[in-house]
Amino acid sequence: MEVRAPQTEEEWQEADAVFQRGFGLFVDTDAFERNLARQMRDRYLAVFLDGRVAAAAQVRPFGMFLGGRSVPMGGYSPVAVAPEFRGFGHGTRVTEAHFSHLRERGEVLAGLYPASTKLYRGVGFEVAGVLVQHSIFTRHLNQIRPTVAWPTERRLTDDDIPAIKACYRRTAQRNQGWLDRPDSWWDQAILENFAKEHWYGVDGDGGELAGYVRYRHARASPPYSYGITVNELCADDPDVAIGLWKLVGSSSSQGHTTKFLGGHEHPLLVLLPEQDAKVELDIRWMARVIDASAAVAARGFPAAVTGSVGLELRDPQCDWNAGSWTLTVEGGTGTLEKGGDGDVQLTINGFSSLFTGYATAETLRMAGLLSGGSPRDHDLLTAAFSTATPSIVDFY
Ligand SMILES: CC(C)(COP(=O)(O)OP(=O)(O)OC[C@H]1O[C@@H](n2cnc3c(N)ncnc32)[C@H](O)[C@@H]1OP(=O)(O)O)[C@@H](O)C(=O)NCCC(=O)NCCS
Repeated sequence: MEVRAPQTEEEWQEADAVFQRGFGLFVDTDAFERNLARQMRDRYLAVFLDGRVAAAAQVRPFGMFLGGRSVPMGGYSPVAVAPEFRGFGHGTRVTEAHFSHLRERGEVLAGLYPASTKLYRGVGFEVAGVLVQHSIFTRHLNQIRPTVAWPTERRLTDDDIPAIKACYRRTAQRNQGWLDRPDSWWDQAILENFAKEHWYGVDGDGGELAGYVRYRHARASPPYSYGITVNELCADDPDVAIGLWKLVGSSSSQGHTTKFLGGHEHPLLVLLPEQDAKVELDIRWMARVIDASAAVAARGFPAAVTGSVGLELRDPQCDWNAGSWTLTVEGGTGTLEKGGDGDVQLTINGFSSLFTGYATAETLRMAGLLSGGSPRDHDLLTAAFSTATPSIVDFY
């Protein structure tokens, strides 16, 4: 058995065929060619058994905004094992084989959408955030009002793409867990269907966009022509956001329901006139800290929190993380330095869930992922890392 990147063109095709079989992309030549062309060949590993590809995993480059800073992150997508090789630990093997490569590239955090929680939990990932889709009655959007003035929206064109990206990034920075999207992701996942989706924006100062909304129409049952799916709505200012929601609401005569993504809580839920939003989709994504010390240095912390706590991390896969550390948080930044008395014991799973702000110290204690330490230590960890539950508007 070998774990390495495919080398020959035949091996690359075989690895791609494992993904095709894993995800039901039926053998259609176009899809096959398109996927092959998009392989990130320097971010790809496969398990070979007697020269055949048994499993493969690709890791995409992202950042994750935590505490207002972009933490370099590798996003596993996709991971698959050929049907005849499942159940023998190859999924586990190909996942953990990436850890040292992630570390070498400075990707201090890894993330993924788990098709099996158990598999990834076994190599240090833990539940670390959510992707939630809410559904509301579109007509309710017409009842919300700006506090100052209605903004003026216009339909966006290709020329607006740089301003769209800048506006997204400013919004993402304020939302714990949102992706810092590289151009490769914008091109493949967001802008590929630019002409088929609806993009409207509000002009800001100096050529910037003060906000934009991206939505599409989806099939609906008569008497309605369509439903509305808002993929993202980014804005710097509440009145701009309200104006863009109102624009979506102007389709209420045909688009009875509107779905939108975010966390369990969302500013719109505080604005809507009635509480009849339904949750359509509720996925918990997972994260794993790859390099604990570098990850703490990379994320932002609340400026109002100051203090130190001794940690002892257990990490069976990444020995560079294991041992006693002192975490210090001050002035909006953090350090994790070797040494100290390791008062609070954490598995790397628990530390990962704490790191993104998903779990409080008490949640981790009750899940058996954190032990030891004083109530003051627990309070400090919760105050330093926790925020609104991390969410995301991308599925990768
Ligand atoms: C999911 C998949 C990658 C698992 O591969 P695998 O090689 O069989 O996984 P492993 O043998 O390493 O399993 C590791 C652990 O996860 C568990 N696990 C694996 N697949 C599971 C499933 N479908 N449901 C529940 N648990 C599962 C195993 O029981 C094992 O736990 P154990 O060690 O306690 O027995 C494989 O079934 C697959 O390719 N599926 C189709 C594509 C897909 O869903 N990819 C994952 C995208 S995130």
